[in-house]
Amino acid sequence: MNKIRIAPSILASDLSCLGDEIARVIDGGCDAIHVDIMDGHFVPNLSFGPAIVNTVRKLTDLPVDVHLMVDNPLDMIEPFAEAGSDFLTVHVEVLDDVSSVLGKITDMGVSPGISLRPDTPVEAVAGYIELVDIVLVMSVYPGFGGQAFIEDSYARIRRIAEAAAKLTQPPFISVDGGVDMDNVRLLVQAGANHLVAGTSIFSGHKEVENIRRMRNAIEGMKDEG
Ligand code: DX5
Ligand code: ZN
Repeated sequence: MNKIRIAPSILASDLSCLGDEIARVIDGGCDAIHVDIMDGHFVPNLSFGPAIVNTVRKLTDLPVDVHLMVDNPLDMIEPFAEAGSDFLTVHVEVLDDVSSVLGKITDMGVSPGISLRPDTPVEAVAGYIELVDIVLVMSVYPGFGGQAFIEDSYARIRRIAEAAAKLTQPPFISVDGGVDMDNVRLLVQAGANHLVAGTSIFSGHKEVENIRRMRNAIEGMKDEG
């Protein structure tokens, strides 16, 4: 099995010491930093802009995994690419011409991703799996951290992962929302290999320990505290 990637979502971090928070997740051995961009339209919340992505860029060489929860991703590609995004994931629900948006992301030298909300049929992304480097399956309704994982996400991940496995270069299968030590093993068994987690990693400034516990849980090892 290839290494399962853990991508802490800084939405749940303590922004008063973002540099320390990022240093701790790097110390814990994470594989990417997930940055949630919310516009107050596509989701009922506002979060970060390109400046934060650029700040994260300067704090690490790890991939910066940017999740655009916005109504107008086409206008956002350039500023977020220039800020240093490695992955730019857009939502299928807001796009009329998905392929050209993914193409623009690729043209900017960034890895494109496609995401879908829990209430969007998986068929909506089926045609784009071969055009992207990451498929991000939302396992909560986007907009806020700390929500409960939606159980039927396992079946949705399995269907997308099975379709992706047929490709010579399958995209990462990412899951985002309510990911924690109790569900990671089942998520990986369903086919997820890029786990986005906010609350379960950043709680209590215990990032190193939390990431270690998550890795142990993935491998089915009993945690010894
Ligand atoms: C939700 C965001 C997630 C969020 C996950 O809209 O896309 O990335 O930060 O947070 P947790 O892990 O707390 O559910
Ligand atoms: Zn996200």
